[in-house]
Amino acid sequence: MSEPLVDTFGRVHRDLRVSLTDRCNLRCAYCMPNDFADWLPGPELLTTDELMLVLDVATGLGIDGVRLTGGEPLLRADVVDVVRRISALPKAPEISVTTNGLKLTRLAQPLRDAGLRRVNVSLDTLDRDRFKALTFRDRHDDVLAGIRAAQAAGLAPVKVNAVLMRGVNDDEAPALLRRALDEGWRLRFIEQMPLDPSGIWLRSTMITADDVFAALSEHYTLTPVPSRGSAPAEEFYVDGGPGTVGIIASVTRPFCAACDRLRLTADGQLRNCLFARDELDLRVALRDEALDDDARRAEVERRLRLVVHDKLPGHGINDLNFIQPTRPMSAIGG
Ligand code: 5AD
Ligand code: SF4
Repeated sequence: MSEPLVDTFGRVHRDLRVSLTDRCNLRCAYCMPNDFADWLPGPELLTTDELMLVLDVATGLGIDGVRLTGGEPLLRADVVDVVRRISALPKAPEISVTTNGLKLTRLAQPLRDAGLRRVNVSLDTLDRDRFKALTFRDRHDDVLAGIRAAQAAGLAPVKVNAVLMRGVNDDEAPALLRRALDEGWRLRFIEQMPLDPSGIWLRSTMITADDVFAALSEHYTLTPVPSRGSAPAEEFYVDGGPGTVGIIASVTRPFCAACDRLRLTADGQLRNCLFARDELDLRVALRDEALDDDARRAEVERRLRLVVHDKLPGHGINDLNFIQPTRPMSAIGG
């Protein structure tokens, strides 16, 4: 067994987030400009064969969870095949997907059959008109249908991610939780992070985890669920359980000290943090024709170790000199 992926702070990396495409069929305001058109050119995206080589090496180094992200990962034409091939790796990791849900009506069952275990669906509002205003697409019903399809396919419990924004949907916390409890969703509120392209994020107006807790506490009794591990969500039993709700305080209570994640962008760049300023190019190694297969795998391993080695202790959002990453969220992967 090779040495695991340990950084200079002792954090062992087991989780790899793989962006399958930077494209999306929604335009969530906090993620992408409405008129965004600067997509990655097709030839720059990793092919599925290239991706499998990376994942074979990474799982050999102790990566045991792979989350497929985007953009919208289900827009990748061969996503079912990607899942099937990951499931067939010698050290198959647990596979999950973060999706906007739109394509789940068609894909939930094939994905489940291919080996997918879990889905996270993003849903910030229960109101159709608000959804349209937030995402610039009239697809609220399709997301709800997608969540139901995931449940019917046995991808339960479906996790639902909600980002609250002041004056937009911050009055919906209790209603979202009511709906989640009724429908069997595992709801998690995520603090909005400074990743938006238009710079609408403001520390002074962002909805904090404490705001969410206070809003929910007006209607529910929340008691902490013990043992958090590396999971970013603080989990609470609702009215004594068994229902729970998660609050992810990425900004106000960062969990970087327990971070075990690495990211791979759709164009083959390794990132050790959502907020990293630097990326490490895996694609050049994958396409280096001077390398034979063994040398290529060794180079992929070397680069994985390098990016882990260079990981900073924290994301720095709270530093005075914080600078947002230059890529939009849609091209980094959630
Ligand atoms: N802050 C917090 N969450 C975000 N997401 C996208 N952009 C941001 C942001 N700036 C969420 C989406 C989705 C997941 C991929 O990340 O809502 O649930
Ligand atoms: Fe698409 Fe997700 Fe970005 Fe919304 S947050 S535009 S669903 S990639």
